Formats: sequence, structure tokens, C-alpha cells
Amino acid sequence: MYYVKDIHKTFDGNHVLKGVSLDIAEHKTTVLVGPSGSGKTTLLRCINLLEMPDSGTVHLNGAEMTFGDGAPPKYAGSAARALRKKTGMVFQNFQLFPHKTVLGNIIEGPIAVLGVEKTQAVAEAEALLKKVGLSDKRDAWPRDLSGGQQQRVAIARALAMKPELLLFDEPTSALDPELEYEVLSIIRQLCAEKQTIVIITHKLSFAQEVADKIVFFDAGQILREGTWDEMNDGSVPRIAQFLNMLR
Ligand SMILES: Nc1ncnc2c1ncn2[C@@H]1O[C@H](COP(=O)(O)OP(=O)(O)OP(=O)(O)O)[C@@H](O)[C@H]1O
Ligand SMILES: [Mg+2]
Repeated sequence: MYYVKDIHKTFDGNHVLKGVSLDIAEHKTTVLVGPSGSGKTTLLRCINLLEMPDSGTVHLNGAEMTFGDGAPPKYAGSAARALRKKTGMVFQNFQLFPHKTVLGNIIEGPIAVLGVEKTQAVAEAEALLKKVGLSDKRDAWPRDLSGGQQQRVAIARALAMKPELLLFDEPTSALDPELEYEVLSIIRQLCAEKQTIVIITHKLSFAQEVADKIVFFDAGQILREGTWDEMNDGSVPRIAQFLNMLR
């Protein structure tokens, strides 16, 4: 079971998440959509504890933390580590380690965090590079790759940690349309493999294609969730207006 319950987060008096509760179905793709500034990224960052919620519960398949119960959050505590190990995040702007090669980027986490032997980490990284179509870039530097290639390395790096839950934050929004395709193909494949995925995207055609559930965010709250057809039925003017704007 994967869920967050009644998550609140405030930045400098700006109440960004106003009691967000969301069930994330295992082996399904959950797509978050909604206006800029509505708190989508903040929610993902609260799920993997890049941000600590002010209050609420994050529960990922047996690992759980509840915030705001009086005790200050322990960023480095065992409960936080247990939660973080379950998630892999792919960022809008790739965030590869610039001073490490492609291979170095992928093996760093498994060796340093999971304690995997180097030979095994390299073998697994090579298999992942094959999966994302970048075997020939094994020893390249991030700066010598296109944006689409960098994002595919970032996906391989996330997968190398064998996360239970994959989080994508607008993974193609920094890419030219022709580079977008190669990244979407890989995400499409991960969805088809029944990974548990939460993805923020403004690409409605892609959302329609992969989403088992669409979650519409507005002003720090979930306005509605459901299938694509339900979200697209025009019954909520705010959602209809937003979806029309993206078309
Ligand atoms: N670390 C931070 N410090 C201060 N304010 C923040 C921080 N992170 C996010 N915010 C604020 O929280 C609000 C929600 O931001 P968030 O990035 O979660 O929105 P979003 O829905 O992902 O928007 P977008 O579609 O533009 O990516 C914004 O007002 C933003 O300025
Ligand atoms: Mg965002």
C-alpha cells in the first residue's frame, strides 16, 4: 500500500499543500496535472522526503512517517532512510552528477547506499544503459550528451536503485520535441512493465495514454481524481478550462 494522508506544507507563510491525501495504486501509473504553482512538485518532494511535510503521513509499503506530532522530523533517521530507499526520482532538469561519467552516475547510488559490489553494480548499470538505448555512452560525460540522452541516463540512475515507486517531475519539459520522444518511449515502457509510477506532466496526450488515474491539483489541493474520461467529461469547469488550455 502506498499513500499520503492529509499532507500540509508551508513555505514562509505560503500554504502550498493544504491537506493532500492520495492513494497510489501499486503497478499503476498515476498522473498529476494542474496549474503552475499548485504544489505538484512539492507533493512529489514530500513523498520522497526531499521536503519534510509540516504534518500528515507518508506511507510506502510498510515504511511510514507521521509529521507534526510534536517531534521534530529526523531527516537522517532510519524511518526517513527506509522511505527514501523505496523511491526513485527523475527531475525536470536531469540533475546528473557533472563530475562523473554516465557509468559513474549510475553505479554511485547502488555502491554507496545499497552496498552493491562494484562489478555487480557495473553489470547492472550496463544492462540499464542497454534498456535506455545508451550502451555506447557508458564512458561519456553528461556535458557531452543531449538533453534527451541525459534524461535517459537519469532514468537509468533512478532504476539502478531498484525503487518500488518511480517519481517523474515533468521529465520532458526541458527537452525539444524531437528529444522528448525518446524519453517518453522509455517511460511508456516502464508503465507497460507495471512499475508503480507517479508522473507530473503537462502532456495531455501522453497522460491520456499511460494514466490509470489522473489527479487534478489546484491551489494545494486535489480537486478531483479519476480516469481520463472522467476528468475530461466537462463536469468541473476549472478542470475543463485547464485541459482546454493545454490542448
Ligand atoms: N523550497 C521552496 N521554498 C519556498 N517556496 C517554495 C519552495 N518550493 C516551492 N515553493 C512554492 O510553492 C508553490 C508550489 O510550487 P510547486 O513547485 O510545488 O508547484 P508546481 O505545481 O510543481 O508548479 P509547476 O507546474 O510550475 O512546476 C509555489 O508558490 C512555489 O513558489
Ligand atoms: Mg513543478
